[in-house]
Amino acid sequence: MSANPTLVTARHFEYITARTTQEDDFLNSLKDHAVAADIPAIWISPAQAGFMQILLMLCRAKEVIEVGTLAGYSAIVMARALPQDGRVRTIEISEKYAGFAEEWVERSDVARRIEIHRGSGREILPTFESDSADAAFLDADKAGYDLYLEESLRIVRRGGLIMVDNAFAFGQLFDENPTDPEAPAVREFNEHMAREKRLKSVIAPFGDGCWVGVKL
Ligand SMILES: C[S@@+](CC[C@H](N)C(=O)[O-])C[C@H]1O[C@@H](n2cnc3c(N)ncnc32)[C@H](O)[C@@H]1O
Repeated sequence: MSANPTLVTARHFEYITARTTQEDDFLNSLKDHAVAADIPAIWISPAQAGFMQILLMLCRAKEVIEVGTLAGYSAIVMARALPQDGRVRTIEISEKYAGFAEEWVERSDVARRIEIHRGSGREILPTFESDSADAAFLDADKAGYDLYLEESLRIVRRGGLIMVDNAFAFGQLFDENPTDPEAPAVREFNEHMAREKRLKSVIAPFGDGCWVGVKL
């Protein structure tokens, strides 16, 4: 680290976003329809999406697992960074969101690369085979992060990638009395990640902060 690191401000985020490959009409339309269907707009940012795609390409990922599909945005983005025979297995607990995501995945250019598993990450991850994925993206149920990390360390191969969203606790990381009920779980998880010897990891300041770890 430089002795005087540059403080990243909202202006830097705007600057980065303006210089990040912009989304196509399909993804914009997916988001508009999701909002119209009362699905919360809590998908990853375009800059984070681009960053995750680059990481997946760099580790030549073919198999990806995800907890938290929502409208299917991140699953589609990740699937686009995989080879033709790649696969994203994504888990969603809400029937409504899973239904919406299925519809939009089916219409997307990567329909064949995405499998939506309906249910809880706690129940479905244990059904995935060990060493059967090159990367994982955890983006749901922060109280479950410790368990999801343990399962990801089992499922992702050595040298693979584990990405975990919301390290900045929805912007409330430093709040004395955070209003978001999941903020304390994120703080505890961050301490866990900082001590985790099985990963080489760092928090990348995209969106709400994204842990990026390589399985050693
Ligand atoms: C932040 S959103 C995911 C956003 C998505 N990854 C994206 O960027 O497009 C979190 C999602 O996780 C789902 N979820 C919450 N608890 C879950 C659980 N225990 N297992 C699986 N999904 C869960 C929620 O219903 C919600 O759709």
